[in-house]
Amino acid sequence: MIGKFITLEGMDGAGKSTHIPNIIALLQAQGHEVVSTREPGGTPLGERLRDLLLHETMHVETETLLMFAARREHIANVIAPALARGAYVLSDRFTDATYAYQHGAKGVDIKKIEALENWVHEDLQPNVTLLFDVPVEVSMRRLASARQPDKFERESHEFFHKIRQAYLLRAALNPSRYRVIDANQPLEVVNKSVETIIATL
Ligand code: TMP
Repeated sequence: MIGKFITLEGMDGAGKSTHIPNIIALLQAQGHEVVSTREPGGTPLGERLRDLLLHETMHVETETLLMFAARREHIANVIAPALARGAYVLSDRFTDATYAYQHGAKGVDIKKIEALENWVHEDLQPNVTLLFDVPVEVSMRRLASARQPDKFERESHEFFHKIRQAYLLRAALNPSRYRVIDANQPLEVVNKSVETIIATL
């Protein structure tokens, strides 16, 4: 692997997507080819699965399997080829989101997710994961004033609390990969934190 794999994570409403254009520009200014993508999605099939995942009611294990089906396609067609040619891949969410949402909030057995992770991307992990962390109240307030909520965004306070805790645990367990950003600050301050992290990649 020559390129670098950077992932963005956080609860809905944490504001991570706002920073994508800036991160792309910073990486390009360092001279890198940047492939910006997202999960679920990132390929034509993955985007169709995304539409189902975000709008259809389904068993939580079906949801988990479809997340990994979309991911398999995403890695094969986008992520692995880009890394192999030395590009920097920036993905808005990856497998940490499955740990946080399907395990942390929805209770899927972590062993099943680990098994799928080993199957789908045994040899691939993000080099760096930026976790945009905000209190649950902030995330819920931002979502309430935003666009029409999808299936995930209509969940309860308890659900969001579990997601946040699951992400913070992932960060604590993977300290060399994770950079936790306090995203409950003015945009310029969050921008500065992002810039500092990108400068040291
Ligand atoms: P987004 O709004 O950040 O694009 O993410 C779409 C939703 O999908 C978000 O609510 C989180 C959810 N999701 C999971 O539940 N598990 C996953 O593995 C991924 C990648 C996303």
